Amino acid sequence: MSNAIRFSRTGGPEVLEWTEVSTPEPGKGEIRVRNHAIGLNYIEIYFREGVYPVPSLPSGLGTEAAGVVDAVGPGVSEFRKGDRVAYAQAPLGAYAELHVLPAEKAIHLPEDVDFETAAATMLKGLTVQYLLRQTYPVMSGQTILFHAAAGGVGLIACQWAKALGVKLIGTVSTPEKARLAMNNGAWATINYREENIVERVRELTDGEMVPVVYDSVGKDTWETSLDCLQKRGMMVSFGNTTGPVTDVNIGILNQKGSLFVTRPSLAGYADTRGRFEAMCGELFEMLSSGAIKADINQRYPLKDVAKAHEALAGGKTTGSTVLLP
Ligand SMILES: NC(=O)c1ccc[n+]([C@@H]2O[C@H](COP(=O)([O-])OP(=O)(O)OC[C@H]3O[C@@H](n4cnc5c(N)ncnc54)[C@H](OP(=O)(O)O)[C@@H]3O)[C@@H](O)[C@H]2O)c1
Repeated sequence: MSNAIRFSRTGGPEVLEWTEVSTPEPGKGEIRVRNHAIGLNYIEIYFREGVYPVPSLPSGLGTEAAGVVDAVGPGVSEFRKGDRVAYAQAPLGAYAELHVLPAEKAIHLPEDVDFETAAATMLKGLTVQYLLRQTYPVMSGQTILFHAAAGGVGLIACQWAKALGVKLIGTVSTPEKARLAMNNGAWATINYREENIVERVRELTDGEMVPVVYDSVGKDTWETSLDCLQKRGMMVSFGNTTGPVTDVNIGILNQKGSLFVTRPSLAGYADTRGRFEAMCGELFEMLSSGAIKADINQRYPLKDVAKAHEALAGGKTTGSTVLLP
């Protein structure tokens, strides 16, 4: 037997239960990993609340962790018992001491990347990789707008943008979060509780506005973000923190300057083994060179995951949060 977090109905953090489960066996093409550190990501709040459907209930939660291969199923040649691995796109259930996943979703961890760093940066770092390097490949000297800059994805984006010579303007809700974003390489911050985002972007860019906005806030910032774009700019809407963007009249893209819009996901970019490995390679290089470090500002025992969810959903966290089994 082992322990895992399960929920049998959608709802608030209280639906998450520390449960004894029978030890899962890896099937063909699968590995079982003993998790040492587990990543906490906002998407897990959408699943817990029912905003995104889960395949069935009761369900596990979480897709990201790092640990040691504990058992290998038939047909797996790339991994052996004892290998150090990480994963970001496993089937739901990573909030567990042991998790079984397709071997193709795991990657060997370089020696200089520890378990907590991997759990804190795999999903978020691969997301920043595709956002800045693929969805809209930013170029040195450009000024961009990135919402929730002091969050998990946000602080990695601040560092990655700085390493690329890109001036990242980050939105934040408090002076402490502004300082943190600046310390991580943001070029400027906008406290949206006190300042008008569009006006500040206009001032900071001498009226030029920005060629791309990375917006994970969703419903509340949709129009504001479009108003920050240059003509033919790119709106990258990649999250729903305040609710999904719905009922959009596509004509708004014409009215606001022949804009482009995309709604990407990690699954849509790391969709083949080759692409996944290339993206991980770039992320590990950024970590090894020191260009990016993990800002793990919260650690919770896995069984206290409800507290971690409450903090993340309440905007109380900064940087990354890891859960320790
Ligand atoms: N599409 C993808 O591939 C992908 C992948 C990873 C993450 N994401 C999305 O990226 C976003 C960030 O994920 P994360 O895990 O790194 O979380 P996070 O940014 O650490 O936490 C969310 C942040 O959003 C801000 N926020 C603004 N309005 C909020 C509200 N009403 N309630 C709560 N927070 C609010 C808060 O920062 P302030 O206090 O500064 O406003 C908060 O800290 C999420 O929307 C997530 O779904 C998308």
